[in-house]
Amino acid sequence: MSASAVDPVARVFAPDAVGRTVRVRGWVLRSRSSGGILFVVLRDRTGSVQVTGRKDVLGPEAFTAAEHVQVEGAILVDGAVADDPRAPGGREVRATRFAVLEPGEPFPIFADQTEEFRLDKRHLAIRSQEHVATFRAKAELLRAFREFLDREDVLETTPPVLSGNAAEGGAEAFEFDYFGRPAYLSQTAQLYLEALLFPNERVYALTPSFRAEKSRTPRHLTEYLHLEVELAWCDLEGLIDFIERMVVFAAHAVAERRPAELALLGRPPAELAALSAPFPRLRYAEAIDRLAAQGLPVRWGSDLGTAEERALTIELRSPIFVTHFPRELKAFYMLRSGDDPRTVEAADLLAPEGYGEMVGGSCRETHLDDLVERLGELGLDRREYEWYLDLRRHGSVPHAGFGLGVERVVRWMLRREHIRETTPFPRTPSRHTP
Ligand code: 4AD
Ligand code: MG
Repeated sequence: MSASAVDPVARVFAPDAVGRTVRVRGWVLRSRSSGGILFVVLRDRTGSVQVTGRKDVLGPEAFTAAEHVQVEGAILVDGAVADDPRAPGGREVRATRFAVLEPGEPFPIFADQTEEFRLDKRHLAIRSQEHVATFRAKAELLRAFREFLDREDVLETTPPVLSGNAAEGGAEAFEFDYFGRPAYLSQTAQLYLEALLFPNERVYALTPSFRAEKSRTPRHLTEYLHLEVELAWCDLEGLIDFIERMVVFAAHAVAERRPAELALLGRPPAELAALSAPFPRLRYAEAIDRLAAQGLPVRWGSDLGTAEERALTIELRSPIFVTHFPRELKAFYMLRSGDDPRTVEAADLLAPEGYGEMVGGSCRETHLDDLVERLGELGLDRREYEWYLDLRRHGSVPHAGFGLGVERVVRWMLRREHIRETTPFPRTPSRHTP
């Protein structure tokens, strides 16, 4: 049968649909039968609708077959659209024909099962309403990012994700055997984006990044989607301005285009629509003072971990930037600050409500000597970075860039408790299947 002969479920709810005959096709969300009437809720990509089937209309054989369809079995129904206040959405399809395409085996997922079991059955669990809403909103977020970057004349590029270099040093890099030589999964595409910046000035990439961190926290994945941007002729002000405009644009787009999904997930769309730039800014030194005043055991040089980020943002409604981190805390490529040489020109964007870091960005060190010194301090092998150092030898330019963790942003926007709920097949230290 051709697809055009089938009506999307959403058509049942069109203003002029009542009284019309439709043909709908999809999967059974739930079903029951009583007194010779079958009640089935059918789902397709456009929505769900109640189908009723009477034994005297369908005939005893077809009725029995329909009664035996399992949850997630596939069916095709012809019927008339009718108003019925008892049906979800106020309408139903009264079946004149009920065809069982795939009756299915009993669906193994139902209420009150353990999280571990659901993760084992993730390939089936992702059919849930929450997951469908999450991944549709995520798709909208990705579309919005691309739209924004396109408008800003930033070129999409395709850096590699496997490399003989561990971009930011060994400990968190997944190493594997590459025909007898060591190779690594990308932690960041940044170094390649810096190379691609010279012929293009403004570049971005959306690639998976990998972190071999054994952090079992609600915000760490071992594989995540990384949106990275690199901008020539850009300073810290310019970088912060770019990041906040991008995040506001994306939040507004998701609020406008996926309000039903947001509402279902417990994020009122108005909260994202209300977001506006500029975001508050805080220097690292001020952040430390604030945290110390709240009684946290921090001093100059302490890293801001989950507890610190939470304390800084739990009461906030807007993301905030933390800037000017101590040089020792950050990667080798960050530009030393002119006004305080103990710090670097860096800006992290923290989500409100305690969700934590979403973006890490900085101006890049352009001086060859400073870069070589930092590589040495961090014990990184200079020979592996020679190609990167070449970029400083041939027409170096002031530039800045950032990396945004897509799942971190989704977690905040969609108020997901755990980051694994923001990606269909989460990779964590304890799980890389299914
Ligand atoms: O702060 P990070 O480590 O920065 C970089 O990798 C830079 N080289 C990026 C750049 O400037 N091009 O990572 C950037 C972002 C973090 O802010 C966070 O949102 C996300 O990547 N991230 C993770 N997301 C999920 N799981 C993890 N384990 C993550 N580690 C980092
Ligand atoms: Mg970071």
